[in-house]
Amino acid sequence: MDSHTVRQKFLKFFKDKGHKIVPSSSLVPEGDISVLFTTAGMQQFKGYYTAPENALRDFGTKNVVSVEKCVRTGDIDEVGDDTHHTFLEMLGNFSFGGYGRREAIEYAHEFMTKELGLEISYVTYYKGEGVVLKDEESKKIWEELGIKDIREDGADVFWGPTGDEGPCGPTTEIYCKNANGDDVEIWNIVFNEYFCDGSREKLDQGVATLKKLDTLGIDTGMGFERLLATVQNKKNNYETDVFNSEKTREERIVADHVKASLFLISDGVMPSNTGRGYVLRRLIRRAVRFSKTPLAKKVEKIKKIYEGVYALDDRGEIQKEENKFRETLEKGMKEFKKGTDPFVLFTTYGFPLELTLELAKERGTSVDVEDFNKKLAEHQKLSQTASAGMFKGGLANHEPQTIKLHTAHHLLLAGLQAVVDKNIKQRGSNITEERLRIDFLCDHKLEDVEKKKVEDWVNDKISRGLDVVRREMPLAEAEKLGAEMEFGAKYPETVSVYFIEDPAKDGASKNGNIISKEFCGGPHVKNTSELGVFKIQKEEAVASGIRRIKAVLT
Ligand code: GLY
Repeated sequence: MDSHTVRQKFLKFFKDKGHKIVPSSSLVPEGDISVLFTTAGMQQFKGYYTAPENALRDFGTKNVVSVEKCVRTGDIDEVGDDTHHTFLEMLGNFSFGGYGRREAIEYAHEFMTKELGLEISYVTYYKGEGVVLKDEESKKIWEELGIKDIREDGADVFWGPTGDEGPCGPTTEIYCKNANGDDVEIWNIVFNEYFCDGSREKLDQGVATLKKLDTLGIDTGMGFERLLATVQNKKNNYETDVFNSEKTREERIVADHVKASLFLISDGVMPSNTGRGYVLRRLIRRAVRFSKTPLAKKVEKIKKIYEGVYALDDRGEIQKEENKFRETLEKGMKEFKKGTDPFVLFTTYGFPLELTLELAKERGTSVDVEDFNKKLAEHQKLSQTASAGMFKGGLANHEPQTIKLHTAHHLLLAGLQAVVDKNIKQRGSNITEERLRIDFLCDHKLEDVEKKKVEDWVNDKISRGLDVVRREMPLAEAEKLGAEMEFGAKYPETVSVYFIEDPAKDGASKNGNIISKEFCGGPHVKNTSELGVFKIQKEEAVASGIRRIKAVLT
């Protein structure tokens, strides 16, 4: 039975029992900001457990069935073994007052034994705790169905809630033997009898309370990949037809992470430095790190598996992120192997601490996190007190592209002074991964020829491959040198100044010629040759006497 057949069998079985087939929702949950991703089939139905009357209105029935896309990152370190994934599909049937324990258990039993021909090795039921009673009813139903091995269990068989609050309740689980002869949990049948006013963590700590729901809800979850392995009699999930027989831990991590990334991108998540985007970025970067070859082939193979079932990313986002990160990784790895300080790896090479931690763990070495945090705090303080110069709040991020644009920003200010007016002063700046923005004092709109001249000036400095050097010095000395300062900022005694020197200005001077000097906390590239091609995108007025330029590097 291939994966497609198992999905269809499941949906049809429950359709024939009066369930409406509901498509999977997005991996980005709607209307529940307390969860990052859809982690269970019930996520899209969460609201129906407290307002079951809405189910009839929305579905024309109280019972629904789905195959849900889920992302779970809690076990990311386990990925690479036989059964853990960050992306998984979840088969589930749900009822909002349509039926109770008996039907839920009987349906599951019938589907497992008759439709899939599996043998149940044992089941569990909840032992009861606090306000929740022992689940004698489920036990009795299983006995009537002829199950011999029925086990009482504790916290593991109480499910939910997801996020900050929600429905939850005791469960009964079904275990089967896999091809290795091990018992694996196949199906989790949750009886949503309570509403918890806090997260699961709070519930476990005893600081959240359970309130009985008016209507018993049914919420079941059957991990598809694990079920497939059992049905197809495979020793691990990677031997089923939703993978490509990945053997090593590394190959499996790559397959798993690329798959999760493809699904996340398809649901509109983009790599970034916060929230969902950061999880995606981390997944792609881990995949890059564990893959000896470019990810393109793996991407194509995974897309093929899901052809006709799910539409997956076709904008090539993985490729873009991969290209960006490979550069960082190569440079940073060399430094990492040399034993470079994690903080330098972070500021100069864009290596996030977690990556350094992972690498160190693999090599059995340790990282002084406290020292890193101390340096980071100092660095941030430096930026915040504006001793860092123009970039008051520090750079928005330390992505390689942002750092390049930061250096281009210094060149642009110098170029404006060299080409347009030596009295030009900066009044504001903002740098993202995509572009730089500078606001500066200037009494006229730049002519096209002026813009072209500034561009040429900057590109000339880039093509010359000039060193970018940081020096710490007493404030008085920096002032004497005439380093660019932020208007109105108060600086400490010792400041950091970034210099760009042109050793062959006008092809004459041997001693070098400083073309840019700014009070600045960094980071910057080491040499201007790393920047690419500089281009002004827009020049406009923002206030009387203040102009704004947006520029990019291509
Ligand atoms: N909502 C039940 C499960 O995910 O196991």
